[in-house]
Amino acid sequence: MRLDKFIADTTDLTRSLAVKAIKSGRVLVNGEKPRTAALQVSAADRITLDDESLTLHEGCRYFLLHKPAGHVCANRDSLHPLVFDLLTGVINRQNLHTVGRLDIDTTGLLLITDDGQWSHHLTSPRRHQPKTYRVWLAEPLRADAEQKLADGILLEDDPKPTLPAELQRISDQEVLLTIHEGRYHQVKRMFAALGNLVEKLHRERMGCLTLDAGLAPGQFRPLTDSEVAALAAG
Ligand code: URA
Repeated sequence: MRLDKFIADTTDLTRSLAVKAIKSGRVLVNGEKPRTAALQVSAADRITLDDESLTLHEGCRYFLLHKPAGHVCANRDSLHPLVFDLLTGVINRQNLHTVGRLDIDTTGLLLITDDGQWSHHLTSPRRHQPKTYRVWLAEPLRADAEQKLADGILLEDDPKPTLPAELQRISDQEVLLTIHEGRYHQVKRMFAALGNLVEKLHRERMGCLTLDAGLAPGQFRPLTDSEVAALAAG
């Protein structure tokens, strides 16, 4: 592969910044300054940027992030910090995307990857992957909520009823809700349709994966190979 692409793939530099870094002598290939950014290199070459060794990661990357409130699931936003900003030490973050989205004020389990096929598979509406949210409500929940959610409810501006969802009451104003689809602001809209208001929302579970109790808001970890496979199979 070309040297400028190698640099862009192994650092946070864009391709044009990689070319600039090469031209300004910050990059060495096997201890020598390359004459051109088009130099062909491979994983066998020793390549450094500012004396730091660069290595190509093999295969795709998969992370589990405990999303804190205040960060957005987007690749760019001029007002708010991005969830990708939390992935300290992870290079090439511009190639990553979130598996579905959580609202800016929603916390909890968020998957991040650069494997488009895997995330597409996980979010496919046909797969009905369960997602469990802990929900704190402004008002006590009405008595018939379980039945209404199990039957499917009509959301504002949406002609199709929601798929059956399961509700577990923790208290009058705190519940666990499991849904099997991922419409826009779905949980908030479901409780709005029940005449209530979501005050706080936290995703605890997605498919077979539960958010680790030891992962504080803002912390992340790579998924294990078996978790990646189990999520894809689930
Ligand atoms: N449903 C919502 O309303 N918001 C989220 O962030 C996730 C699900």
